[in-house]
Amino acid sequence: MCGIIGCSLHDNSKYNILSQLAKLEYRGYDSCGVTDLINNQFFTFKSTNRISDLKNKKTTLSNLSIAHTRWATHGNVSTKNAHPILSNNGNYSIVHNGIIENYDKLKEVYLSAFRFITETDTEVIVNLFEYFCKTNDEIDSLYILSKLLKGSYAFIILDKKSDNMYFMKNKSPLIIGKGQDIIIASDILAFDKNVSSYYRLNDFEYGYIKNNKVFLYHNNKQIKPSFISFIYSNYNNQLNGYNHYMEKEIYETKDLLKKQIDFKFDSDIINLINSSKRIILIASGTSYHAGLLGSYFFNHLSNIESSAYIACEFEYFDYYNSDDLFIVISQSGETADLIKIVNILKNHNHNILSITNSIINTISTLSSKNINIDAGIEIAVASTKTYTLSSFILYKLACIKNNLYDKRSVINCIAELDNIYNSTDIYKDLAKSIYKNKNLFFLGSGYDNLICKEASLKLKEISYIHSESMSCGELKHGSISLITKDFPVIYFISDNGYKNTLNSIEELKSRHAKVYIISTNNVEIESDIKVSSTNDLLSFIPFSIVLQFISYYTALLLNNDIDKPRNLAKSVTVL
Ligand code: AGP
Repeated sequence: MCGIIGCSLHDNSKYNILSQLAKLEYRGYDSCGVTDLINNQFFTFKSTNRISDLKNKKTTLSNLSIAHTRWATHGNVSTKNAHPILSNNGNYSIVHNGIIENYDKLKEVYLSAFRFITETDTEVIVNLFEYFCKTNDEIDSLYILSKLLKGSYAFIILDKKSDNMYFMKNKSPLIIGKGQDIIIASDILAFDKNVSSYYRLNDFEYGYIKNNKVFLYHNNKQIKPSFISFIYSNYNNQLNGYNHYMEKEIYETKDLLKKQIDFKFDSDIINLINSSKRIILIASGTSYHAGLLGSYFFNHLSNIESSAYIACEFEYFDYYNSDDLFIVISQSGETADLIKIVNILKNHNHNILSITNSIINTISTLSSKNINIDAGIEIAVASTKTYTLSSFILYKLACIKNNLYDKRSVINCIAELDNIYNSTDIYKDLAKSIYKNKNLFFLGSGYDNLICKEASLKLKEISYIHSESMSCGELKHGSISLITKDFPVIYFISDNGYKNTLNSIEELKSRHAKVYIISTNNVEIESDIKVSSTNDLLSFIPFSIVLQFISYYTALLLNNDIDKPRNLAKSVTVL
């Protein structure tokens, strides 16, 4: 979702902020913009295209700039609605990530005399700032805003007259990186090699950057930010010969899994698991699907009662106990639906163990304990390697209680991945058979049904083909009415014992559906794709790679923008 960045250079050297903004591209966006402040004048450039297009338009360089990638919420995708956005008097220019829930009300109460150019909630913030600055200084005005604005936001406002760069945040991430220069951004990925320490703002903190110094406030009092040292690592964002990041990331999975084979959990985490009577897993999207597998693992391997919930639904269920352990899973660590729940749980002093793909993020900061899956940046919007890695970490956690971790079968299972990586023609063939369809079913029973959920989401995300995942036995209770001649159905089968699956295949074949079977080699059934798995519960490893390849090659045939599918954002930072 939206990414914001502000750069304040220590001297008058000029800088192209767009190279840093490009590091936020992976979050997903539909337009972008930048403002340079030069000799008390704003120079603004916008594009409803990619940052590369903005780079072509931008003709200025400055030592004070703000920039933005927008994922439209209020108002359509247009140059007008793209940020930065000016206040009425033209003194202030803002970039904002998040949603102001009460923007209409605030507009009505305070801004009736203001003229609005855009359809955004952001314009209300910058005009409110201007409004309060008429009778207060800027810091007091920010304090007033911290009391008035409802919702999630992180914003940076550049002041044309003073050269100050104001900022404030609630719920959406905002991090200040300090070194020779100052970079303030939604994500540490936007930092450059000059940043040697960082400070993650807490909710309702605000302040300004002036002459390369940071002034921080909370509740009208100045506070001292405690910067933590930062070692810049220039993540490998090159395609290295791959056609898409998604493809590259699928291939990275094997080595990342290998790295985790001997990973040891710290003793606090082991104690947390061993002492848990019940484990509740919460996440969104693909991470939720990893959570479903996790709950299956806990139930089957550790006899710990466990269930998984979708983050945005969790607050509607209240049958959990004070001694439950909550495991929250989030690739980005910034998913608003999940942050909301983590905050509620934290306020009730629950034990929260988070599984994230970095350590500097909101969810890991809020949790009692964190496990970093350390999969490296995932640029493609569709999660691949992080699904497999998070699921693997959950598998290892579930093995703790009864000491069931069988390193040998994990090593063998991972070694078998080469066969999958070397069989892309089979996935391409399957993709060719399905890519012209409008609808498709993924069917499986038990464990395999959980795999189907991810297969279906992955296909929808990047191919835009409608698909449903369903339990084999459940199909006959209604959805079978959709089955007509040649309707494509893909089965995942990891276990001979799934009688419902075998019955369902017969039922659908007799209705002339087009049946494709993906199974492990221990299942005695003729299959379109066979994968090796050394242990039934580890089948998610080969299956995940196969389902990702099928989606990938299907989207490729459809000529879709695989790494940046329409309407989607990598990091969903709004509720
Ligand atoms: C995955 O392919 C999707 N992009 C999406 O479902 C994602 O998993 C979900 O938004 C949760 O994100 P998180 O793991 O960063 O919390």
